[in-house]
Amino acid sequence: MSERIDLAALPQDFLWGTATAAYQIEGAVAEDGRSPSIWDTFSHTPGKIENNDNGDVACDHYHRWREDIDLMRRLGTNAYRLSVAWPRVMPGGDGVVNAKGLDFYDELIDGLLAAGITPSVTLYHWDLPQALQDRGGWPERATAEHFATYASVVAERLGDRVKHWTTLNEPLCSAWIGHLEGTMAPGWTDLTAAVRASYHLLLGHGLAAGAIRAAVPGAEVGIVNNLSTVYAATDRPEDVAAARRMDGHTNRWWLDPVHGRGFPEDMREVYGVELPEQPGDMETIAAPLDWLGLNYYFPQTVADDLTAPVPHVRTVRRLGVPRTGMDWEVEADGIETLLLRLTEEYGARKLYVTENGSAYPDVVRPDGTVDDPERQAYLVQHLAACASAARKGAPLAGYFAWSLLDNFEWAYGYDKRFGLVHVDYATQVRTIKGTGDRYAGIIREHRQGAAEAA
Ligand code: FCB
Repeated sequence: MSERIDLAALPQDFLWGTATAAYQIEGAVAEDGRSPSIWDTFSHTPGKIENNDNGDVACDHYHRWREDIDLMRRLGTNAYRLSVAWPRVMPGGDGVVNAKGLDFYDELIDGLLAAGITPSVTLYHWDLPQALQDRGGWPERATAEHFATYASVVAERLGDRVKHWTTLNEPLCSAWIGHLEGTMAPGWTDLTAAVRASYHLLLGHGLAAGAIRAAVPGAEVGIVNNLSTVYAATDRPEDVAAARRMDGHTNRWWLDPVHGRGFPEDMREVYGVELPEQPGDMETIAAPLDWLGLNYYFPQTVADDLTAPVPHVRTVRRLGVPRTGMDWEVEADGIETLLLRLTEEYGARKLYVTENGSAYPDVVRPDGTVDDPERQAYLVQHLAACASAARKGAPLAGYFAWSLLDNFEWAYGYDKRFGLVHVDYATQVRTIKGTGDRYAGIIREHRQGAAEAA
């Protein structure tokens, strides 16, 4: 993989961003009327999170957001992807709006705009109000409807200034990891519930897309999926079929319905669960999209394994492939393959890489600086692959590095650090890592090139 980034292949108005999510950074979980989400419940259940960590304080961004905007300014980014916490805005999940919750995001948006940073708002990054979980959560249709109500409340308040909207972040994780594998909130292992959740998440996406459009003239609405390139472990027909199933489970189940192709038939058969479909739903789910968001971290290699839960595959470790601190394979070509697939197979008109990044054990030097050459290499390789995809015709309009800050990495707790900025959790001191400096340099170089070309 080339280490040269073909920056001239990226549009002049490219969005160079960082991304975060509410529960991973905000803390202040009981302040100003916020109610618990399923992640508060899950993280406070002993044994669910490494070290029994939780998001109670996290990066204390709720109080330190001004300092965090300053960090973005120092990185030279011109965009920021954040998520709004549903339980701050509507603590009961539906009905009463909590003004203080909305005020927080209102001020944050103003702060970003004043710093010349375009906000990109995600409405759901996994923090379902516990009150709605208590009424059945995503396996229930009503949750999709409440999501649309919440979406319209946020869009009405912020829509005069926010034009970039994401309905859902990685519904795959909410449905499959949250309801089938059980290692994310709400921690279920129930195939029927998982399939119903996947359906209602996408229904909620479609309903929310409509609600945002109705509230925000000129809104650009998209959905963010975490996709993987999938390889068969061998050429045996069984393994090739397993890879096809894994592709269905990871990629097509989430992409086909929103593109008006319905839920993939082969996967409906694999799951064997009846979809809770009502007339008109498929049209709602296929609401027109302005862009697609790709979160890319790693490829997957699988073999057939009928003893494993759906989709009946076993993940195979490839020897000799470098791995991050998450034990995830590093394969930058995957991001190019996926950007081109979204362009060619799904006809994407606009694409954003909405997350991409790596965790490594950081070395904090005695002078407090953080040297992270592996993360830097990961960033450069993946940006090179993105630019290569753009050169080949992918309509890539922006890249959001995951993440601005080290943060609460879900079931892995605070040990896994993805930040461009190091956070000392004992003191909340922030330090830009080597990768942050590198990113700033790349952004400067692209701007210079763009200015010279203009
Ligand atoms: C993605 C999540 C994000 C972060 C990264 C590492 O799946 O969207 O919140 O945890 O992984």
